[in-house]
Amino acid sequence: MSQWFVPGPVPVSEKTQNACAGEMVSHRSTPFRELYAECTQRLQRVFGTSGYVFSITGSGTLANEAAVANLLPNTKALFLVNGEFGERFYQAAKIYNPDAQAFTIEDGLGLNVERVKDVIDAQMPQWVCLVQNETATGVTNDVKGIAAYAKSKGAKVLVDAVSSLGGIEFRMDEWGVDACTSASQKSLGAPPGLAFVALNEAAMAHIEAQQRIPTYGLNLKTYKKFHLKNETPYTPCLPTFYGLRQALRELEADGLENRWRMHADAAQLARTAIAECGFENFAEDGFESDTITAFLPGDARVEAIKKAMASKGIQIAGGQGKWKGKMLRIAHIGPEETRHMDACVTALRNVVQNAQAEVLVA
Ligand SMILES: Cc1ncc(COP(=O)(O)O)c(C=O)c1O
Repeated sequence: MSQWFVPGPVPVSEKTQNACAGEMVSHRSTPFRELYAECTQRLQRVFGTSGYVFSITGSGTLANEAAVANLLPNTKALFLVNGEFGERFYQAAKIYNPDAQAFTIEDGLGLNVERVKDVIDAQMPQWVCLVQNETATGVTNDVKGIAAYAKSKGAKVLVDAVSSLGGIEFRMDEWGVDACTSASQKSLGAPPGLAFVALNEAAMAHIEAQQRIPTYGLNLKTYKKFHLKNETPYTPCLPTFYGLRQALRELEADGLENRWRMHADAAQLARTAIAECGFENFAEDGFESDTITAFLPGDARVEAIKKAMASKGIQIAGGQGKWKGKMLRIAHIGPEETRHMDACVTALRNVVQNAQAEVLVA
């Protein structure tokens, strides 16, 4: 069987996998309400919020779409972009708010206050929006610092934490983040099928003040109405809810901060291995992601390394968008990938340094 070191869907624990076979019950029943309530309370602790966490059946893209459709129409929104997922977030927003602006820096560089201060000062947006962990390039942005600066300028903050929540430090209320999105199938170690939008009271009030929400199925006013009864408005992805509950129980049994540490340790193994193999981390120093490590091994080697790793049963990811065919990415996201990182880096060292020299010639 293959071992997967890709940025999701991630492998899940056996108990989580088995939990997905739970009974199919009505989402207007007590068992579902209990399931929903437990998942919501546990998710609040992972987001670090006492606010709302809505669970939407779908993937991270849908959570982002729900966030921008409900929060950003008729506002002055500024997106801080440093890669494919930041760009997609911005493109989704432009559908609901054609005036949304983007400030883009080079892929691989990290976003911090120093780099975004001037554009925030110049534009004075009502919302500052960014991705915490740019999965396409393995870069983690300084959400804490940027949120504090945006707040000091009177802006609200929307963060995509799709590939960081549960794996990289994130403290929604403490850092002053008003709205945040994520998904089940990455650092939380749950199956795919659920996406989350977390909102504080100010963000919810902002939505409730809107006359018209330009979406039916993703209208978060409707989600709130049902949320207050521990229900979803529409048919939920029940197998994933069962899997999520088990994955969140396991997360809390390990401890959230321990999980962050596990990701940091696995990331360190990946970074050391790629350096020993003669490659450079694509991420700028100080912004290296703890859930994904990207590197450029030389175009001719990309497919050869991936194939040689696969022949050892180790699956890693290639590049996305403009980095397709140029980049390799080793994910260490979720509890199973982080625990098995040794196998991945051992295979990489073998492939690159020893026996397989001949496969590296394109
Ligand atoms: C940072 C980030 N945002 C959004 C998404 C989109 O998520 P999904 O593929 O679940 O729709 C991804 C997926 O990898 C991601 O990494």
